[in-house]
Amino acid sequence: MPPASPESSESNEPTASAEAAGGPAISRKSLLKAALVATAVPLFAGGGVALARDTGASGAPLAPTPDCDDGDEPTHDQIEGPYFKPNSPLRTSLVTSSTPGVPLTVSGYVFGRECRPISGVLLDFWQADTNGAYDMSGYGFRGHQFTDQNGAFTLTTIVPGLYPGRTRHIHVKAQAPGSGILTTQLYFPGEPRNNTDMLYDAALLMNVRAVGSGKEGSFDFVLDVSQNPTDPPTDPTDPPTEPGGTWRAGTSYTAGNRVTYGGVAYRCLQAHTALTGWEPPNVPALWERG
Ligand SMILES: [Fe+2]
Repeated sequence: MPPASPESSESNEPTASAEAAGGPAISRKSLLKAALVATAVPLFAGGGVALARDTGASGAPLAPTPDCDDGDEPTHDQIEGPYFKPNSPLRTSLVTSSTPGVPLTVSGYVFGRECRPISGVLLDFWQADTNGAYDMSGYGFRGHQFTDQNGAFTLTTIVPGLYPGRTRHIHVKAQAPGSGILTTQLYFPGEPRNNTDMLYDAALLMNVRAVGSGKEGSFDFVLDVSQNPTDPPTDPTDPPTEPGGTWRAGTSYTAGNRVTYGGVAYRCLQAHTALTGWEPPNVPALWERG
């Protein structure tokens, strides 16, 4: 049976007052973000923040998520809480057709600090069931997945239930390949307890809208991953790319490097770390034939 005790009473998830004492101070930037979120509410039925894909549909240049518009503000972190369990199953759906609760999908992208999507990011989600209980004996409502080649993810689940001391939330850990772990929580707009939960952070609000009998949430993560194309290779022990080598994702290339891909020779035009999806024929800004 899932534990019935409230999360906030557990020793390793602080109470609101403890979090207030030891938690991060509210910065001017956070306040500005809260204001941004508030002004964005009329755009969305359920409130929330503007996402890159919303503005992209208008034909205008894609705006990055609010957290990375200046390239220096990764997604805020949050405490892990007492209900995390390692070794969750690899799966994008935490439910079956008979799972009680309001159906919810959460989708989005993971960006680095330069607002470029990151593929292969580990996202490990865990949440309460519709009654507000966590499964500590098994892996109910726990699962991890990886972002696809476009940096996108989709989680199929239910709206988590409320439990004493907290507003509605979903826990998540995000880790880009070779980078540190971001532990955070996602929140729902329009929840009365958002006003009283000291852990709540408006910068971590999802967009949520009703779709049929269920809900759709969206959120874009911004990880503290440098994407400056002029950066040196992240691992100095990486072997240099030899002229005539085969293009390989994960390799750091510099202008002038020559590779082959699909039997065709290419020359690197600007330094970058290759990602799946950035194969030379797909990114003429990075590679030219010859
Ligand atoms: Fe929780």
